[in-house]
Amino acid sequence: MTERVKVVEVGARDGLQNESSIVPAYIKQELIRRLGLTGLQVIEATSFVSQEWVPQLADAEEVMAAIKRREGVRYPVLVPNEYGMRRALAAEAREIAVFTAASEQFSQNNTNCSIAESIRRFQPVIAQAREHGILVRGYISCVLGCPYQGKVPVSKVVAVATELRELGCDEISLGDTIGIGTPHQARDMLRAVASEMEISRLAVHFHDTYGQALANILACLEQGVRITDSSVAGLGGCPYARGATGNVATEDVVYMLHGLGFETGIDLDMLAEVGAWITRQLSRPNTSRAGLARLANMPIKPKMFA
Ligand code: HMG
Ligand code: MG
Repeated sequence: MTERVKVVEVGARDGLQNESSIVPAYIKQELIRRLGLTGLQVIEATSFVSQEWVPQLADAEEVMAAIKRREGVRYPVLVPNEYGMRRALAAEAREIAVFTAASEQFSQNNTNCSIAESIRRFQPVIAQAREHGILVRGYISCVLGCPYQGKVPVSKVVAVATELRELGCDEISLGDTIGIGTPHQARDMLRAVASEMEISRLAVHFHDTYGQALANILACLEQGVRITDSSVAGLGGCPYARGATGNVATEDVVYMLHGLGFETGIDLDMLAEVGAWITRQLSRPNTSRAGLARLANMPIKPKMFA
């Protein structure tokens, strides 16, 4: 049997949170709808964070209400605290993601609190998630470096991951927020975390700032990781990490995974069409190499999303 890799699409959240202009809710809804038709099974939809901090996602309620949920597709949302959890529950989110960092300075700049305080805030959030049968992902930012403090010790990543796991996170996503890591660093960091918990619970989340993301994903696949995050057309960045580019493009990841013989359930041509569509809507370049190559070689543009 072919081995499967779960691709977590973060474009509508990680991507759009970093657009300089505010993207209208109807474009976000349509992006999520189109992504759902490609075979993606996890589409991060939005964040229930402060609109003072991330005005780009102030329409989280409107976006969630408009999603026509497809059977077999999950639409997780980011939640930083109990207030965010109340909003997520009211919006009938079935999966949430809490987020912290392996760097104190990044935690302060991203969530206005220390790592320890962010984790303390997650306790009631995760307890409520349990009560409602909601899955919880825990994100750790800056696992291979921080825009403010520079180096981040692997031991700190392991310590934060262990705390999140003990708190009850079902899955932990290891984020190279500024896309600074190289393959052996990624491999060694992953190995260290995986020595403390099941690798099946670990995801990798690479931004492509230095063009290392695919190589880093490959290094982590070789260690046994089977969940990877990415963003259609390479949308995004992080509002609290200046200079960070978008996540690695989903089209590029899917092309590599299929070439390696993994199954994803994702239709690459449809995904390339979504990448072309959203970048036209946003008037921004499509940074997916595989997406652009695929589009150039598609003889007839089929009406895939009517
Ligand atoms: P704070 O200002 O310290 O919050 O922000 P506070 O508790 O002092 O409250 C201040 C005001 O915010 C109050 O309103 C609260 O009600 C409101 P006021 O009384 O002044 O009118 N507030 C909220 N409003 C809506 N939703 C909420 C909420 N909470 C408080 N949930 C806070 C603390 C955590 C809220 C803020 O810092 C924040 O929202 N930060 C989010 C930053 C963010 O979203 N960053 C991007 C996501 S992380 C990421 O992208 C990395 C990742 O991709 C992985 C990687 O690449 O590394 C995941
Ligand atoms: Mg990110």
